[in-house]
Amino acid sequence: MEAEHYFPSPSLCSTRWWSKETVAVVTGGNKGIGYALVKQFAELGLSVVLTARDYHKGQAALQALEAHGLANHLHFLLLDVSDPLSIKHFASSFQAKFGPTLDILVNNAGVSFNELDGNTVEYAKTVMDTNFYGPKLLIEALLPLFRCSSSSSVSRVLNISSRLGSLHKLRNKKMREMLERGELGEEEIEGMVKRFLGDVKSGRWENEGWPLQWTDYAVSKLALNAYSRQLAKKQTRLSVNCFCPGFTKTAMTRGKGAHTADHAAALAATLALLPPSHLPTGRFFLLSRNTITTTTTITSKL
Ligand SMILES: NC(=O)c1ccc[n+]([C@@H]2O[C@H](COP(=O)([O-])OP(=O)(O)OC[C@H]3O[C@@H](n4cnc5c(N)ncnc54)[C@H](OP(=O)(O)O)[C@@H]3O)[C@@H](O)[C@H]2O)c1
Repeated sequence: MEAEHYFPSPSLCSTRWWSKETVAVVTGGNKGIGYALVKQFAELGLSVVLTARDYHKGQAALQALEAHGLANHLHFLLLDVSDPLSIKHFASSFQAKFGPTLDILVNNAGVSFNELDGNTVEYAKTVMDTNFYGPKLLIEALLPLFRCSSSSSVSRVLNISSRLGSLHKLRNKKMREMLERGELGEEEIEGMVKRFLGDVKSGRWENEGWPLQWTDYAVSKLALNAYSRQLAKKQTRLSVNCFCPGFTKTAMTRGKGAHTADHAAALAATLALLPPSHLPTGRFFLLSRNTITTTTTITSKL
């Protein structure tokens, strides 16, 4: 499937369907793209739950945003997405505070332990737990808490992913064919992740056709993309899309990048806030050279 250029028209972007009653959760909201996104959601008038794995970092981010006069739109809850118990506690705390009113979940928290031109798999398990299992388990825990879709509002998940997880980066032909199959099961996606971790453990990973650049990170995002496509097919009440913000100046890139976190977050906010009538599902959006491109199936060649 060919990639197509996509940019929501200004009228779509200004169609305001949300209000202060609209509840958004952003993971990894204490810095980088997550922080910028929390700020923009709050400035646009939504109620935002800033989450962070570290209480003090979360509080510091909250205070910085409150200094911008956004206190009325902000809440804070602790959440370490790599820890299933923390996800469970978060879901209970969310339910106790808000009930089943979740409108928008942005799975933004992510890690890479690679230098820009390096490739280490030393922390491959942490990378999988954070970038793949984290969003997956969080979505599953929050499914009952999404507000039911209606014509005026559609619950949505935006997974912040990466073009490094594009299917064509995978050189193992059998695995690529498996991922391309329409009826892919969750067990097969998890099977791929387990196989990768097994290859890392046995030291075989360099010869098994895994992506060459930021290998563990790329596999984690590939799995996230594939899972998002499956979920989008299964869930009729939810829109599920992925977004690659492109090379963005954050801690993950040691401050290098083509644009700021604010710029990436503005586009993420636009995609997360598309009006219900124009909200796609199962899409992979990619920001590149200031243009958003999209493919119809998440794991297509970009
Ligand atoms: N920057 C880029 O060029 C780029 C390109 C493509 C995709 N992305 C994606 O964009 C997303 C945001 O990254 P960023 O560039 O903004 O990086 P960043 O500045 O390093 O921010 C990452 C955020 O994720 C949080 N986090 C990490 N592990 C976590 C965990 N286990 N539980 C909860 N939060 C956790 C971090 O918290 P701490 O402060 O506690 O570490 C931080 O708030 C990631 O998913 C990344 O893969 C970034």
